[in-house]
Amino acid sequence: MNEADSENIAAAFRRRGYTLTEDLKKADAVVVNTCTVRQRAEDKAISQIGRLRKWKLAKPEGKLFIVGCAAQKLGEKEIKNRFPFVDEVVGAKAIEKFEDSLIAQLGPSPKSETTHQNLFRSPLTAYVTIMRGCSLKCSYCIVPAVRGPAVFLSAEAILEDAAAKIKAGAKEIVLLGQTVNAWRGAKTTFSELLSKVLALPGLQRLRFMSPHPLYFDDTFTALLAGNKKLARYMHLPVQSGSDRILKLMRRGYTRAQYLGLLEKLRGAAPGLAVSTDFIVGYPGETEEDFQETLSLIEEGRFSMAYCFKYSPRSDMSEMAATMSEPDIEARLEILLAAVKTNSRLVLNERIGKIEEVLFETETYGRASGNFAVRVKARGTPGKMAEVLVAGADKNTLNGKVL
Ligand code: 5AD
Ligand code: SF4
Repeated sequence: MNEADSENIAAAFRRRGYTLTEDLKKADAVVVNTCTVRQRAEDKAISQIGRLRKWKLAKPEGKLFIVGCAAQKLGEKEIKNRFPFVDEVVGAKAIEKFEDSLIAQLGPSPKSETTHQNLFRSPLTAYVTIMRGCSLKCSYCIVPAVRGPAVFLSAEAILEDAAAKIKAGAKEIVLLGQTVNAWRGAKTTFSELLSKVLALPGLQRLRFMSPHPLYFDDTFTALLAGNKKLARYMHLPVQSGSDRILKLMRRGYTRAQYLGLLEKLRGAAPGLAVSTDFIVGYPGETEEDFQETLSLIEEGRFSMAYCFKYSPRSDMSEMAATMSEPDIEARLEILLAAVKTNSRLVLNERIGKIEEVLFETETYGRASGNFAVRVKARGTPGKMAEVLVAGADKNTLNGKVL
C-alpha cells in the first residue's frame, strides 16, 4: 500500500512538471512516506527525517513533506515539535489530499499530463488500489488505527485506473488492499470485479494482495479454476500455526480452516504457489505454540514467508511482549532457517514442470507462481511464454522457452 501511495504521490509531482531524482542535492522537494506497522519501521522513518535536517539547512526553500502511517500515528504537532524544519505533515488517512498540500506549497501545476511510472517494480506491473484501511481487529495490528476502517473504491474507478495503466504499458495488474478480497461494490462482488478486470484488453496477468482467509468463497475458486490469467500465486498471511495464538490474535480462523482453504484453492488451481507472513514471540507464545508454527511451514508448502518479531504498538500497551529479546531472536532464527529449507524444497518441486512466464527482459521473467525465472535468450519482453524448468538455484528457476 505504501509503495502504491508513493507512486501516486510521484505522479502528482509529475503532473506539476517535476521529475524524480535519486540525488538529494538536486531535489527541490523531499517526501518521506512512513510506515509504523512495527516499531522498527517507525524508528527508521524518524531517523530518516532527522538526516534531512542538513538538506533543509542547505536549501531552506526546499519543501519537506512527511506522509503516511507514522505521520498519522505521531501527528503533525509531535513531528513539527521534534523536527521544526518539516514543511507539511500528511497522515495516512488524508493521503489522497496530498495533492492539495502540494498545490498549497508549490503552486498550481504548469502541466496537466497524467503520467505514471513504477518506482519499485518492473514497468510491466502496475498497482491498482481497490480499497483503503481495514475493518478487522487483529490484536497486534496498528493498521486499522492509522488507516481507518475499510473503504472500497467503486468498480468504475478501479476499472478506469486499471485500463489507463494497461494503456500506458502494464501487462500485469496487482489489485491492492489490506484485506483485498473483502472488497465489494454497490452491485459487484469481488469475483465479479476480478472478471471485469480480467476482461480488459491487453491484460496478461492479474494478481491481488493481500487477501484474508475469511473472505474467499466458491465463486472465487470457480473463477480461479477457469481463468489462467489469474495468477497461480497468493500471498495469504497466516501469522501463526497455533490455534491458541490465532484466537488471541483474533484472526477468525483455525489452523485446520486455513489448511482446508489452501487445499480448496490448490484443488482449483493445481500448483498454486502460496507465501505467507508469520509473527514470532506473540505475548504468551509457548514453545508448543512455536512448534506448531514450525510444522505449519512444511504442511502449508509455502513458497516463501516473511517472518516478523512481535512488535508492541504503543496504542496497545497491555500487549507488551512477554518474551525476552534474545528468546524471540532465537525463535526467529529457527523460523527463518525452516522457511529457507522449505522454500528450496518447494522451488525444486518445479523442476521438470512447465511455467507460464511473463518476460521482463529477454532472459528474465516471473512465473505465474511468482518465482523468478532465467532462460538463455529467446524470451520477448512484455510477452508471456511457456518455460520448461531445468533447474533451480537460490531463489531462481532456470530453463528454456518452449
Ligand atoms: N508486530 C509484528 N509484526 C506485525 N505485523 C503486523 N503488525 C505487527 C506487529 N505488531 C506483520 C503481520 C502482517 C505484516 C504486514 O506485518 O505479519 O501480515
Ligand atoms: Fe491488520 Fe491485516 Fe488484521 Fe487488518 S487484517 S487488522 S491490516 S493484520
